[in-house]
Amino acid sequence: MEILHVSAECYPVAKAGGLGDVVGALPKYQNKAGNIAKVVMPMHRTPFLYNNEFIIDYKAKLQFGPSQLDFTIIKESSNKLGFDLYLVDIHGLTDRTKVYGYTDDSERFIAFQIAVATWLNSWEHKPDIVHCHDHHTGLLPFMMQHCYAFPELAFIKTIFTIHNGEYQGWMDFSKSIFIPHWDDWKKGKMEWAGKINPMASAIKCCTSVTTVSNSYLSELKHSCNGLEPLFEYEKGKCFGILNGIDNEVWDPATDPLINHHFSAKDMAGKALNKKELCKKFGLAEHLPLIIFIGRLVGEKAADILPDAILTTLYNQFGKQNFLILGSGDPDVEWRLTEINHQFKGYYHCELGYNETLAHQMYAGADFLLMPSRVEPCGLNQMYAMRYGTVPVVRSTGGLQDTVVDMGDWEGFGIRFNNPTVSDIHYSIGRAVSVYNDKTHLNWMRHHMMTIDHSWETTVEDYQRIYER
Ligand code: GLC
Repeated sequence: MEILHVSAECYPVAKAGGLGDVVGALPKYQNKAGNIAKVVMPMHRTPFLYNNEFIIDYKAKLQFGPSQLDFTIIKESSNKLGFDLYLVDIHGLTDRTKVYGYTDDSERFIAFQIAVATWLNSWEHKPDIVHCHDHHTGLLPFMMQHCYAFPELAFIKTIFTIHNGEYQGWMDFSKSIFIPHWDDWKKGKMEWAGKINPMASAIKCCTSVTTVSNSYLSELKHSCNGLEPLFEYEKGKCFGILNGIDNEVWDPATDPLINHHFSAKDMAGKALNKKELCKKFGLAEHLPLIIFIGRLVGEKAADILPDAILTTLYNQFGKQNFLILGSGDPDVEWRLTEINHQFKGYYHCELGYNETLAHQMYAGADFLLMPSRVEPCGLNQMYAMRYGTVPVVRSTGGLQDTVVDMGDWEGFGIRFNNPTVSDIHYSIGRAVSVYNDKTHLNWMRHHMMTIDHSWETTVEDYQRIYER
């Protein structure tokens, strides 16, 4: 099958979160399984653009409200990612350094989707599937079916994958002037609660919808920022498919970003990684090392982290270390870095996004904390498991689908129910006690490192939906 993935992010070209990791890996494994999978995304000005060679694939004009915009599609020439990568350059709109966060994001992503539809309409052999990811590409299925400019696209099957239903891309109907002339009777297919809602539109227009875990799909029917009845109504075409992880990038036996390699059979390197990490941040090597990696936002329950950590440090002083890596809400950043001065030697918070340090933390840590309020899939807990780091997670979404509590049969992780200071504090207590029971800890480590979260299985699940 020929599949075209349409996304705002794709690792290593541009990444803001887990969406980038997924779109950077899934097509590679689909190609390995015998498909032709390609990716098209906006041409963000990231280092990848400057450090690689591209050829011009297509040039045309697109109608954008009252104006016509020139756009160019360039293609990475070496196929080094394991799939054809196409970047859409719309001067002044897509060529920015950040993926999101501009006041004209709605216009930028509408223009990107028009460019993709215009380009696709010109293909001689059409792809079998157009696979859209998250709301930035949510209006494309509507455009393909209801805009007069793209008659060739109406019968192509479309899949929409929801990586995060909290963000839906709402915009005022005044922005509909930017969408190429469309059948007025179909207005309802773009709309939710009086606004243009790209996520709702994609759910209505796509052939099938997938979410990145089964539990998240069930949760969306009860809690999805207003779209709950839509999920109930469209449930017949919605499926949950758990993400995989790229086992080639995330392999403690070969990872070029860590200094001491190890595997389930020979764990010696893990202790050496921990030693280095603790030395770097002035932490006590003999104590359990608990890490948090991620965006410092409410969705990840980062706002309660400072209180949860302080409560634990006051009550169980000298029993554990914490190392935090992330960026986000300035208030949370400030509160987390304040603790650096108070508990030097037992705590460190490093602000920012740092891929190398993240790998070193998974490799050197004993426990990974993920108290997320919402976690559609979560990749960090799977990276942690692959590196023998015990996940301490809230029972939600993909966390619930991938982590079994150590109190249950063959359990290898720690789960709690509520994103609260007391649940986190209690769970850290459980982590400290299992750390002191080395036989149990080593069994858990060994067991989780042998669990298969590779893309090969996930690719088969997608294949079944495509064939359907
Ligand atoms: C989003 C979700 C995360 C998921 C990722 C990849 O970032 O918040 O849970 O793992 O997308 O699908």
